[in-house]
Amino acid sequence: MTEDGTTALFYEMFTGLPRQGPGDAASTRRALSLVPGIGPATRMLDIGCGTGAQSLVLARQTPAHIVAIDNHAPFIASLRDRARALGLAERIDARVADMRDLALPSGAFDLVWSEGAIFVVGFERGLREWRRLLAPGGHLAVTDACWTRPDPPAGAVEFWRHEYPAIRTVPETLDAIVACGYETVGHFTLPPSSWWNDYYRPLQENVMAFRARHRDEPEAHALADAVQREIDVWHAAADAYSYEFFVMRPR
Ligand SMILES: C[S@@+](CC[C@H](N)C(=O)[O-])C[C@H]1O[C@@H](n2cnc3c(N)ncnc32)[C@H](O)[C@@H]1O
Repeated sequence: MTEDGTTALFYEMFTGLPRQGPGDAASTRRALSLVPGIGPATRMLDIGCGTGAQSLVLARQTPAHIVAIDNHAPFIASLRDRARALGLAERIDARVADMRDLALPSGAFDLVWSEGAIFVVGFERGLREWRRLLAPGGHLAVTDACWTRPDPPAGAVEFWRHEYPAIRTVPETLDAIVACGYETVGHFTLPPSSWWNDYYRPLQENVMAFRARHRDEPEAHALADAVQREIDVWHAAADAYSYEFFVMRPR
């Protein structure tokens, strides 16, 4: 199978989900409540927005203007369609862009947001590079995977060692935030329901339909096995890790 074929299978597996990672509207609203002074002049940037589950919450919850970026064009097209249908297109500017190379002016945003996507560039690199985008008094809100127990089970440790070796505890991440020149305004752990309801539950259905569509295709089965393993590891150890929401501002 070509690299394009592998990528196409990957996106097929993740098509049609309400969101592309753990999260939920209540957690987005809770993190937003930690940011002071949001009004009609507030400029937000949502990095790695996917199909825009959180972009739409940000737009509904505030009168702000939001630039939402993702490098997968079909996700951006989906967000544009939904924003238009909800009458939010005037305030959501969805663009195809690479977060590794953001050609956006310095100081252009009062709030930079990123749910489940900072891992793409790495937590420290994201914090250091995205600071440039913040206007004076601006805030940054991100979620990142963290251990929530000091003694995670071996199966979960083994899985994360391959998937995201940078995973660490919440206190370690808070230290990294200070080392990157920010202070934490608040943080909280996403509940297990934010992994299941809009992410793993529909993804589990996708895995089964995907297997049925791709009988006798070894590469497709390998992908289905890998996604199933991720879901199974979470079922076995959901109390040992989660995403932590961190809201911070430059010191
Ligand atoms: C785990 S998903 C999270 C999506 C969304 N924020 C959510 O929580 O549903 C990560 C997102 O990052 C996007 N992404 C991956 N690499 C990227 C890059 N280099 N530049 C911009 N977006 C990227 C993916 O397309 C995907 O939509």
